[in-house]
Amino acid sequence: MTGVKIVGVGHHVPERVVDNHELETWFDTSDEWITSRTGMKRRHWVSENESTGDLAFMAARNALANAKLEANDIDAFIVCTVYPDYLFPATAALVAARLGAHDKAAFDIEIACSGFIYGLTVASSLVRAGVFRRVVLIGAETLSKLVNKEDRGTAILFGDGAGCVVLEASQEDSFLAAELGSDGSRPDLLLVEAGGSRRPMSAAAIAEKKHQIHMDGRQVFKFAVTKMIAATDRALEKAKLTKADVDLLIPHQANRRIIDSAMKYLEMPPEKCVVNIQEYGNTSAASIPIALSEAVAQGRVHANDTIVFVGFGGGLSWGAVVWKWVA
Ligand code: ACO
Repeated sequence: MTGVKIVGVGHHVPERVVDNHELETWFDTSDEWITSRTGMKRRHWVSENESTGDLAFMAARNALANAKLEANDIDAFIVCTVYPDYLFPATAALVAARLGAHDKAAFDIEIACSGFIYGLTVASSLVRAGVFRRVVLIGAETLSKLVNKEDRGTAILFGDGAGCVVLEASQEDSFLAAELGSDGSRPDLLLVEAGGSRRPMSAAAIAEKKHQIHMDGRQVFKFAVTKMIAATDRALEKAKLTKADVDLLIPHQANRRIIDSAMKYLEMPPEKCVVNIQEYGNTSAASIPIALSEAVAQGRVHANDTIVFVGFGGGLSWGAVVWKWVA
């Protein structure tokens, strides 16, 4: 078994910024309410003709440039997303082709906001098992296209973007442990009901807004706090580390109050936690790789740092990965 490390990072967000004041003109809300309840000030939204694949392509191009690699140096491309360009083919295949790779493995992973955590575990395991030498792993979402823009409970939360890491086989191993979980007994808590085989898209489904995100915010909030803490604890235990060993926490950016609870539990000062929710909102599977890419660019990630990536989302699902940063 070989090890795995990250040799390149990159991200891309759409140009259009939707700030809280713009949302105030759409429905009964306020900058003060959104800021105090979520920590969000702005989010970036795609234009009508931009897709998840477009954002994924840009993020992967940036990460490959950061790694000083070409698309054909990569063995597999993985896109984590809930909103692919098409039901099929996989968005990863489209992105690989646009990057110039025409005969490589490519597949998508759909596990909502936990997507990148699952993706990092799967991709790292494939590299460590010797199946692939290099993998491009992307988290990309355009949830602005999936929210009901008249629903103040969800429209304020989601942003669009993509983040990417390039993984490579290595003698030193970054992957220390993972804890993944899911509970599908309450899909109604966070659901897009129409468009799949249970309820194919129809005029009636659209009229009932079943093609858009439905969420029980309060229930998801409670679940998120509990699971983020439990997953972090369990992953650290598996890595034979303690809270005190964590140098950097990179959590899913769903709500500032959820992140604050995790930081409080881990007894981490703010400088050890990457938070960019004020700028991007919740970009689902893209939020952790975007935050990592920014943290690297800001010089916040150092050789031998122990990083915890932790997230939760639709499923319901959750996960944490303990990662040692290898220079
Ligand atoms: N502006 C003003 N008032 C609002 C807004 C808004 N945008 N949204 C809701 N309210 C109102 C509600 O109607 C309610 O009013 P009422 O008391 O008169 O009924 C009041 O504010 C409180 O509503 P709550 O839902 O209890 O507000 P809460 O403090 O829980 O915040 C929020 C809502 C921000 C959605 C929070 O519950 C949350 O962040 N939940 C977790 C969401 C999340 O993490 N989702 C993950 C998605 S990941 C994925 O996989 C896609």
